Amino acid sequence: MKVKVKRYDPETGREGYDTFDIAPEAGMTVLDALFVIQNSHDDSLAFRYACRGAICGSCAMLINKVPRLACRTQVARLLDGSDSVELKPYPAIEGGLEGGEEWNPAEEILIEPLPHHKVLKDLVVDMEKFFCFYRAVEPVLKPAGELPEREFRMEAGAVRELEEYTNCILCGACVGACPVNSRAGEYLGPAALAKLYRFHIDTREAADDSRLLPANSATGWWGCEFHTNCMRVCPKKVRPNVGIGSARRRLTEIGKEPPEFKKSK
Ligand code: SF4
Ligand code: FES
Repeated sequence: MKVKVKRYDPETGREGYDTFDIAPEAGMTVLDALFVIQNSHDDSLAFRYACRGAICGSCAMLINKVPRLACRTQVARLLDGSDSVELKPYPAIEGGLEGGEEWNPAEEILIEPLPHHKVLKDLVVDMEKFFCFYRAVEPVLKPAGELPEREFRMEAGAVRELEEYTNCILCGACVGACPVNSRAGEYLGPAALAKLYRFHIDTREAADDSRLLPANSATGWWGCEFHTNCMRVCPKKVRPNVGIGSARRRLTEIGKEPPEFKKSK
């Protein structure tokens, strides 16, 4: 099989695509394929990974024009087309490849860096802005009132609701798939907003809606256009768009939506 990889060398400034011929193996993931390339074809190829088990979130990249985790994407399913994901269009996945390069999806796997992040080298992107937005939502539990002597007790339903959001591994795939993030650099993005929503619904915090307010703006909850690409690419089945919609409904209920987003009644 052929694997076409987007390259960028910060030392020489060279940009472009390299195509490698490698033998597919049963159970091979895209990350495995990158190791074969690095070990047998070009040891200068740079990519990021840690756990190899869809836990650390460090291997998100654009694979066949869909943001995915390299370590959980099977090459066989890319080649037979059974792993296709429909996304609302945005610049990184539309049109041809840079430099007029050709890509034949029937024969080649295409691997590019995660969109909407600065590329440091080849498939390694700078996640600083992503984590800056993550830190901006203060992702720490702020318990209301006195701390219990032992553990907090939570209802099973509340835990289940929370779990969808605590499953996030901060891979950034949703941000790389978000059409708003492609053009609005200050939009907090689906991952940070999903994290903020996670603390809003946490029954251990004060139920006073104060958690919603720091993102009560066009660069927060109100920037989302509900393209739903975020939930389509999330490897952990988080649905940031659902949390964002709930947050907006709550802000409207309590009369706190920003004036420019107020619907006339
Ligand atoms: S919400 Fe999903 S896609 Fe987005 S950072 Fe978390 S795990 Fe990754
Ligand atoms: S290597 Fe950890 S999520 Fe892929």
